[in-house]
Amino acid sequence: MRNMSDDHTRVQEFFTARAADWDRRFPDDGPAYAAAVADLGLREGDRVLDAGCGTGRALTPLRAAVGPSGVVLGVDLTPAMLQAAVRAGRDRDGQLLLADVAGLPLRSESLDAVFGAGLIAHLPHPAEDLRHLTRVVRPGGVLALFHPIGRAALAARQGRQITPDDLRAEHNLRPLLAGSGWRMTSYVDEDDRFLAVAVREG
Ligand SMILES: C[S@@+](CC[C@H](N)C(=O)[O-])C[C@H]1O[C@@H](n2cnc3c(N)ncnc32)[C@H](O)[C@@H]1O
Repeated sequence: MRNMSDDHTRVQEFFTARAADWDRRFPDDGPAYAAAVADLGLREGDRVLDAGCGTGRALTPLRAAVGPSGVVLGVDLTPAMLQAAVRAGRDRDGQLLLADVAGLPLRSESLDAVFGAGLIAHLPHPAEDLRHLTRVVRPGGVLALFHPIGRAALAARQGRQITPDDLRAEHNLRPLLAGSGWRMTSYVDEDDRFLAVAVREG
């Protein structure tokens, strides 16, 4: 079995190879990110984390949602992805941090929301890792797991079939979130959007 650092190395190698081209591969996703962020109900002054922020595609809509008085933090494990975020100027919208989402150097309950796009499939221990995110979000705060295309469209793009054990299937995700301190409040899996929203239990 792999240990945590093997998993992290594998993730870093995978995304380092893709970082320079990441935004060019998916040039039309911007509106989908903006729409997903709009659905979170963020307010002026909120503190929000983009977990696994990559090249920072969500940082601009997150900043727009929380305004200049809010806090936007983008965390990623892969330096090359964060470097691409800086080259794209997205560090203007949020503070970037090289870290594992399961080991965030943040105070408990210091955030109002976490946005994670394309993240959960890359987590080595999803239940444990989601529980770490629970720690840093206040009770009643929100977690959004997003992807700009749905599960079936993504599987087709990757040339694979969806299997019943798919982590993001509603029947798997709901209990996974519940076991990690999150109550799922909405779930959408359509061709042009995957968005599961959960609330941090008290
Ligand atoms: C599919 S990419 C999505 C990037 C970005 N959220 C987007 O939507 O364009 C997944 C990102 O998660 C990061 N990642 C994976 N596991 C992580 C972890 N445990 N902690 C922090 N970042 C992680 C990867 O380095 C990668 O940048």
